[in-house]
Formats: sequence, structure tokens, C-alpha cells
Amino acid sequence: MSQDSFADAVLRWYDLHGRKDLPWQRDMTPYRVWVSEIMLQQTQVATVIHYYERFMAALPDVQALAAAPADEVLHLWTGLGYYSRARNLHKAAQRVVDEYGGDFPRDLQLLIDLPGIGPSTAGAIASLSMGLRAPILDGNVKRVLARYHAVQGWPGEKVVHDRLWAIAERHTPHVRVNHYTQAMMDMGATLCTRSKPTCLVCPLQAGCEARMLGAPTAYPESRPRKSIPVRQCLMPLVVNPQGDVWLQRRPDSGLWGGLWCPPQLDDHAQLDALLARQGWQADEPQALEPLRHTFSHFHLDIQPLLVRVTADHGVAESGQVWYNLRQPTRLGLAAPVKKLLQRTELII
Ligand code: ADE
Ligand code: SF4
Repeated sequence: MSQDSFADAVLRWYDLHGRKDLPWQRDMTPYRVWVSEIMLQQTQVATVIHYYERFMAALPDVQALAAAPADEVLHLWTGLGYYSRARNLHKAAQRVVDEYGGDFPRDLQLLIDLPGIGPSTAGAIASLSMGLRAPILDGNVKRVLARYHAVQGWPGEKVVHDRLWAIAERHTPHVRVNHYTQAMMDMGATLCTRSKPTCLVCPLQAGCEARMLGAPTAYPESRPRKSIPVRQCLMPLVVNPQGDVWLQRRPDSGLWGGLWCPPQLDDHAQLDALLARQGWQADEPQALEPLRHTFSHFHLDIQPLLVRVTADHGVAESGQVWYNLRQPTRLGLAAPVKKLLQRTELII
């Protein structure tokens, strides 16, 4: 089969727009490409350039890196962060020298077996510096492929990930694989960006399914939100004839610890018990618009009730307050309570 039109379009784009002047694109030895790929894993091109030049000046080949003291390697990495990358780089260099006589193995699996080199980094090293037909699937490429084929599902899931690898494999050309790899990375970084893809200037627009569906940014899907349970409560906004709302201070530990809140009740029987305990005469409770508040591990569906008490003995015990909505005292209020009090102010 001849090379597919996908790769053709990518390679034509490379000729016109691909980056050809990055420091690691000069003298593309496996060592130089490898170090650049590791630096670029968590760090942007603009930041990497300076570190890369300095690293190469100090440690120009894999033998120099293998022989360097660990402190020197970490020193050259200072500021790049994610220091396990530097430690793995050092260890891998020592293995390349000890086990392969200083020549990187021309084999994907053997590359992957080295510390710090995953399948995509191995593919980048193999395609960019060895001319091997090896696919890559870094974050940028994943995005381009997921959009082009409108691949559904979250790529963190194995079936989706496997499907993207199969697509990456299929599109990888037999010629100019180095240019193709660089172009895919560059397109993902500059055209097919996460939130604002510029499809109008994209060489893949004619065949891109996500673009045709009118929803490029819907792919790849993000991690599904874990479904969390829903709890329900009644929250009586007890209002006295002066228009004050009765709040209680919550225990220091637990939800809304130490904040002031209307009572949180399970049912109307608890409301009746509360009214009786407080000695309140009240009108029929009036249901207000429900409110959902989401905590990290559950949704709380709040059914607010407006409860007008016609007579109360006017004193609040400690840990309780008649809260004046128009001249509020400075208390800590949970966000949904604040919202409910604002709504209450408008209707009483
Ligand atoms: N990100 C990862 N590898 C890259 C490369 N070779 N060029 C530009 N950005 C990259
Ligand atoms: Fe990405 Fe748009 Fe190009 Fe599709 S057409 S690959 S969504 S930039």
C-alpha cells in the first residue's frame, strides 16, 4: 500500500511550516535526541533550549554523561524540575555504555527497557535519530489523532489508548519518518491546540472527523468524573417577626466546621420536633427553590423551607443566633448558606 494521504498532508505541511532550527535538530544523534525528548517531556520548548545547550556543552556524548558525577547531572538539570528525569537519564547512560558499548540499541523494546524511556519517547528517538519506522503518541499527537478520527472515550482507558496506538502505527510513513514525527509534534503544539485548534490552516482539515462534526475540542475526552452519591436535606430558614433568620454554629469538626448554618434536617418530623423544642409557633413551611451543593465526595441537594415563626421567646442560646439580614454580624457562612440568605432577604 502506498503511504496514506494523512502522512502526505503532514509531510507537505512539514516542508512549509515544520520546525527545522531547534538545537536538537542539528546533528540528530540518538544521544542528542534522547536528552531533548526527556527535557521536553514536562517542559516547554522555549524553556528547554537554554538548558539543552548548556547540558550538551558540559556532557556532549553518552560516555560523558555516564561518567559524570550525579551531582553534576542534577546541577545541569536545576530549574527544569521533575528530577527523577535527570536521575533516570544518568542511569540509562551508564547502561548504554556498559551494555551496548555506548551505542543506543536500534530496537524499540530495548530502548523502552532503559530507565525513563516510555513507548512514545522510544518512538521519537527511533524515528528522529535512527530513521526507524516507529510511531509516537505523546500528548500532542494523541490530540491530533483523537480528533482526526473522532475517537471516543478517555485515552487513560486502555481500549482507547490501544486504539490510538493502532492509529498512530497505521499512519506512520515508511519514508521521511523523522520529518513526519517532528511535524506531528509541531502540529499538535501549534495548530491542533487543546482549546483553540486552528482548523482552517490545518493540513488535515479535509479528512478530520472532529472538525466535520463541528466539535474539535470534544476530543480527546477528559477523564470521566467519578459519580458521587447524592444526599438530601431540608434546611428550614426560620424567620422571626423582625425578619431575622435563625442560625446555629456547626461543630468545629466535620462539614462546614465552625460555620453558621440553618438546621440541616432529614424530614418534616425533625422540623416539627425542632419547632416544639424551641417553643416556636410557625406558619406552614413554604418550600423554596432547591439548591445543589457539591462537596468532593457527594452532592447535597438542599430543599430550603421558609418557616415564619409568629412568636418566639427572642433569645438565642450560645451557638445560636438570630441573624439580621440587613445588618449582618460578621459570621462565617458556608457558600450555599450565603446564597440562601440572599434569596431569603429578597422574599421576606
Ligand atoms: N516535544 C517533544 N519532542 C519535541 C520535539 N522534537 N520538538 C518540539 N517539541 C517537542
Ligand atoms: Fe486538529 Fe482541526 Fe486539524 Fe482536526 S482539522 S486535526 S481538529 S486542527
